[in-house]
Order: sequence, then structure tokens, then C-alpha cells
Amino acid sequence: MTVKLVVVGGGSSYTPEIIEGIIRRHDSFPVTDIVLVDIEAGKEKLEIIGNLAQRMIEKSNKPINLSWTLDRREALKQADFVSTQIRVGGLAARSKDERIPLSHGFIGQETNGAGGIFKAFRTIPVLLDLAKDVHEICPNAWIINFTNPAGIVTEALLKHSPHKKVIGVCNIPYNMRHSTAEILDADPNDVLIEFIGMNHFVFGKKVYVNGIDRTKEVLEKLSGDLDYSPANIVNLGWSKTFIEATGLLPNPYHQYYFQTKEVLEKDVKAFKENGTRAEVVQNLETSLFNIYSNPSLYEKPKELEERGGAFYSDVACSLMDSIYNNKQDVQTVNTINNGAIPDLPEDAVIEVNCMITNNGPKPISVGALPHTVKGHIYQMKAFEELVIRASISGDYNDAYTAMVMNPLLANEKGSKVVLDELLEAHKSYLPQFKSRGN
Ligand code: G6P
Repeated sequence: MTVKLVVVGGGSSYTPEIIEGIIRRHDSFPVTDIVLVDIEAGKEKLEIIGNLAQRMIEKSNKPINLSWTLDRREALKQADFVSTQIRVGGLAARSKDERIPLSHGFIGQETNGAGGIFKAFRTIPVLLDLAKDVHEICPNAWIINFTNPAGIVTEALLKHSPHKKVIGVCNIPYNMRHSTAEILDADPNDVLIEFIGMNHFVFGKKVYVNGIDRTKEVLEKLSGDLDYSPANIVNLGWSKTFIEATGLLPNPYHQYYFQTKEVLEKDVKAFKENGTRAEVVQNLETSLFNIYSNPSLYEKPKELEERGGAFYSDVACSLMDSIYNNKQDVQTVNTINNGAIPDLPEDAVIEVNCMITNNGPKPISVGALPHTVKGHIYQMKAFEELVIRASISGDYNDAYTAMVMNPLLANEKGSKVVLDELLEAHKSYLPQFKSRGN
């Protein structure tokens, strides 16, 4: 029996992580074939990653056939899992998503505000096309989507593609669980956080360690300088009042919404000193690929942990392992609500704890939205729907409403200025947008 994994965006600097994860789990999740796929522009990186992955597999002695190719349709044949980690337009596009809003006094970030909106506009059509191919060529395969903005992209695929075996994943719930374990001096495997909300807008509602409710203790420890953030976010700390009043664990991305002014100041300063995060990552990538090219490197180097998405592969590999083995364990993924949060639409994608079966994730009911953040979550979900609508329609007014309804823009003239500039800057990646509005 074969188990085949296709990694779309295989030339990504994150790929050595997924290779390591597969090797580590090989006894329980015996992947026989891995194909790394990329596009012409990523050919050189794909070659470097392919060779490093080959060395890692040889060293492990695991019977895994590895290949890499630019022919996506050929690669998809007989696939069981297709993971997606693409960046349409590369880091150069990310840099524009960050710089342009910032130059007009708005947050520039790859998954939040105007930057996140444009990342979705560029990405959703490309992934809808991939999902169509998957549905035709390997209809039984699971798509495991990492591509950002992961929640929005997953909802777009689940609502608008014929392929329904799609699960979105992110390292934030994993990071929160691990940092909470550290705060409590507990084993991360014993920690269960009840998550409520959407990707990069998820809150922790309750924390249990071996079934004992320790939420209060975590909230107390959080309202200080505890650093809880991935490498791409500079923690600004949370005030005791915010934590006590909401009674929830914020995720690191909440700083964009609840500390907007401070984040802007910090970003403007960082931008003057080192450029935007995309530019920092570009330099990091150059050194990572230099390290990867070393023929005597046989493992994932430590330096990869300087990327914000570090440990994503643990999430992806555990998920595939549980689907394959029908483990019925609990993992946090992005999937259709199906009533788990009764006050959000049934067909909305939420980030939620699920029982993972060979028939996919089954969301565990988490109850009504907490009254303290309910309005914000409603607004963000409605905003996400606007983004998906505009990504597909290419309609200027749809795009404008998505911009102006986003809490990080929320300015009628400013939204138009930023929208027009980003549409122009990214026009070669946005064939669906034909007219520019007035
Ligand atoms: C976090 C997020 C990911 C994001 C990454 C960015 O971990 O959860 O969604 O892709 O950071 O990291 P980077 O190193 O590219 O700034």
C-alpha cells in the first residue's frame, strides 16, 4: 500500500520541517512517496530543497521515494494528502502589502488589514484552481492548507470548490498550547485549550491541564510581560485590565486590533531600522538557502526557528497521522462550524478543537461566543465573507467594502487610496480585477 504526500510550494524554506515531521512519524504514518511541486519562478529553490530533503531521507533510512517537479497535475496522481504552502508573488508582493498601507498610516501585515486582504485576493483564485485539479485527479486526497490567510482561504475552498476534503491549519493554537504549558510548568500533551473564533482571531476560552481547569492561573500570569508570540511578532504585553475584563487568552495577532496605535509606532520604527518583516525574511531566506545548500547538511537547521511559522509541520504531520490512523484525538484546525459555535453561520470556517477521524475533523461544541468579544468576532466573520466575495468576483465595490469594513482600515477615503495603490502594485497577480472604480 502506498501513502503519497504532495507538497505544493515545495520550494518553501519551511519544507525541511515537514520532511523531518514525516521521518519522525514514519513508524505510525508510513509515507511511501513525497513529491515537492513548485512553479518556474521557484525552480532554483526547489532544487536546493529537493536535494536537502533527499539527504535527510537517506540519513533516516526510511523507505520514502522523493521527487520534485514543476508539473503539478502529474504530481497529483494517486495523492493521499496535498499540503499547500504557497505565496503568490513571493516575498516581493508581501513587502508591498506591508509598505503601502504603512505609508498611509495603516497597519501593513501579511494576514491582517489591507495586506491580508490582498494576500487573499492573490491566493484564492490560484488555490481554487488547485482544488479543481485535486478533485479531478486525486478525489480522495485531503488538502491540508497552510497558505495564508489560512482561515479565509480554507473557507473560500470549502464554499466555492467542488473538493470538500479541505482542512486549514496554523501554528498559533500549537504555540499557545506550548507556551501555556511552559507558563504552568506542565507537559504540552496534558494541556487542552478550548479555542473560540477564527484563524489569527482566535481566543482561548478555558485552559485544562489533565482535566483540571487552570484558566484563572494562566490569565493571571499572562497579564505581565510574558512572551507568548512567534518570531514574527514583537510582544507588547497585555494589561491586567484587558485580560481580567475579557476573561480570555488573546492570541499574539490580537495586538493588531487591541494595540493598533502601539503596533503602528513599533512598525514604523522597525521599518526605518530594518525594513518590513518581508524584507527581514528575505535576508533570513538568503542565509537559510545558503545553509540548505551545504551538501553535508542532513537535518533541518536550528536557524529555521527564526521564521514565524516554525513548528507548523508538527501540526500538519500530526493531523495527517491522525486521519490516516483514525486516531480520534483532539487537534485544533480550521473547518466548517457545523454548529460548534451556535451564533456563527453553520457553513462558516472557524478555528476549533476537533476530533480527528479518517473521515475528517469533527468539531467539538464550544458554546456561544463570549459576550465580551462577540461583536468583534461577528464583524471579523462578516469581513472575511466580503474578502472571499471580492477575491472571486473581482468587483471593485466588493473589494472596497472588504477594505472599509476591516477594523484596521475603517476609513472611507483612506481605504480607497490604499485599495487603488495595492490594486495597481499587484495587478499582474489579480487578473480577476478588471475595473478600478471612480
Ligand atoms: C506565524 C503565523 C503564520 C505566518 C508566520 C509568518 O507563525 O501563524 O501564519 O505565516 O507567522 O512568519 P514569517 O517568518 O514569514 O514572518
